[in-house]
Amino acid sequence: MLTLLLLLRLIHDLAAATLVGSVIFNYILLRPALRLIPPAHAVVIAQRVGNLFTYTGWTALTLLFLSGLLRLYYTGRLGLLISLDLYGHGPGRSLALMIFFWFVTVVSSSIMTFALRPKLMKKLSVSSNPTLADVEKRRADQIYASAWLDRLQLANLITATLALIAGSAVALGGLF
Ligand code: HEM
Repeated sequence: MLTLLLLLRLIHDLAAATLVGSVIFNYILLRPALRLIPPAHAVVIAQRVGNLFTYTGWTALTLLFLSGLLRLYYTGRLGLLISLDLYGHGPGRSLALMIFFWFVTVVSSSIMTFALRPKLMKKLSVSSNPTLADVEKRRADQIYASAWLDRLQLANLITATLALIAGSAVALGGLF
């Protein structure tokens, strides 16, 4: 049992490190660097990194949820999640906060993956004979999607970091 709990903890911590590390890398290091190279190159790099990030980000979010739930189950605390007792003590409140911020990260990642990225990656098929208006509309959609992707990337950076802070505080009596 102890080995299983240790393994779940390792998975949880590595997934948290991967998620927070990659959102920091994306927003603070990659984004400004892309502004320094020609736009045509920047778009290709942003698309490739974005594809990879979609896989690593969703894998980390799924592993965080599963390893977190299993840890609660194996330590006999799963029932706490549906009880108001969770909010009656500091560690419980921090646990709830961690799960809340995970949920917000999942919502904003879903908007990025299923609404904004398809807009950004959309190609006009030559066979459909696009008009100038189609080309302009696509360009406007891409600028809109790109601005919102930037904002949601920042939102993810903040919510994932807050989840990390709340999670780290659970074993130390909670944040408040
Ligand atoms: C972005 C999402 C999350 C991050 C960054 C995160 C991060 C952390 C960190 C840093 C810890 C402290 C180190 C450790 O004990 O492993 C922790 C503990 C924990 N997390 Fe998360 N976590 C997230 C989501 C979740 C979710 C969704 C659940 C459950 C459904 C969960 C359940 C737990 C549990 C049960 C603990 C152990 C608390 C204790 O010490 O008793 N976490 N988390």
